[in-house]
Amino acid sequence: MRAERASKPVTVRAAAKINLHLAVGAPRPDGFHPLDTVYTAIDLYDDLTLAAADADSLAVDGPPYVDVAGIPTDASNIAVRALAEVACGGAHTVRIGKRIPVAGGMAGGSADAAAALLAHDRLHGLDQSDEVLLAQAARLGSDVPFSLVGGTARGRGRGEVVERVEDAGTWWWVVVPSDTGLSTPAVYRHFDVLRPDAPSQPAEPTELLAALATGEPVRLARTLRNDLEEPAIDLRPELGTLIERGEVEGALRGMVSGSGPTCVFLCEGRDEAMAVAAGLSATYDVVLPAMGPVAGAHVVTTG
Ligand code: C5P
Repeated sequence: MRAERASKPVTVRAAAKINLHLAVGAPRPDGFHPLDTVYTAIDLYDDLTLAAADADSLAVDGPPYVDVAGIPTDASNIAVRALAEVACGGAHTVRIGKRIPVAGGMAGGSADAAAALLAHDRLHGLDQSDEVLLAQAARLGSDVPFSLVGGTARGRGRGEVVERVEDAGTWWWVVVPSDTGLSTPAVYRHFDVLRPDAPSQPAEPTELLAALATGEPVRLARTLRNDLEEPAIDLRPELGTLIERGEVEGALRGMVSGSGPTCVFLCEGRDEAMAVAAGLSATYDVVLPAMGPVAGAHVVTTG
């Protein structure tokens, strides 16, 4: 379909992710690490509004804990790169209402890229297949396909080959972002330093998949795994202190989210998550209760 000037802006909502299992193998010849991961989407969202315009522009806003100043607003922004990848002519204004911590290990940039791809498709009535959107997403980043899919899904390859998995739970989390982001490539490089013996095949999430199918948080807590936690804590030792503190406050398990530095705490249920959040709030400025799994990128309003 032609890229005619569409009159109604489209808003797409895309969720943050947590890696329930993040097993990392030795780097491939292309420098990426083979992953066997299980992602889950939680109800911490970025909303991206796309409109046809005479000139391209990008504006980002968010609450104080979001480092808006740290987000590029030029062509290097991943949402802008997503539009450049698929643009079929015409300029756009992009507005991002950010809630997902920046450079936090929660796929905030990937969420924006997925939102931009879907918003562009809907704005211009392209109605492309899931396969086409997923292929576009994979070219933009390892976590972008999951941001489209949402729910709970296993990711292989460098994370971009996603398939939904059975998840019988409603999981309650407490999310604690950090003041300063961590560079994902830097954490992977530090993984290589600490784990020169990493296997070429990353470990499979067999027990975690079984735990997900039971819906039991205590069982899930025992099977959580993140191979990037050790390098992230080695780079930021205060994250280890935070994880211990959350567990003392009553979380079933605390862990670094992805490449960090955001830490997430799995709790028994909603009440326990509120109690852990209240306990951590005495020391940490930003403490966000969250639940999942939730849907992948989807249109929330048009008009
Ligand atoms: O794919 P994405 O752009 O999100 O990756 C960011 C960086 O993280 C890559 O350039 C690479 O340094 C590292 N990475 C990796 N192995 C992966 C995913 C990411 O080494 N599977």
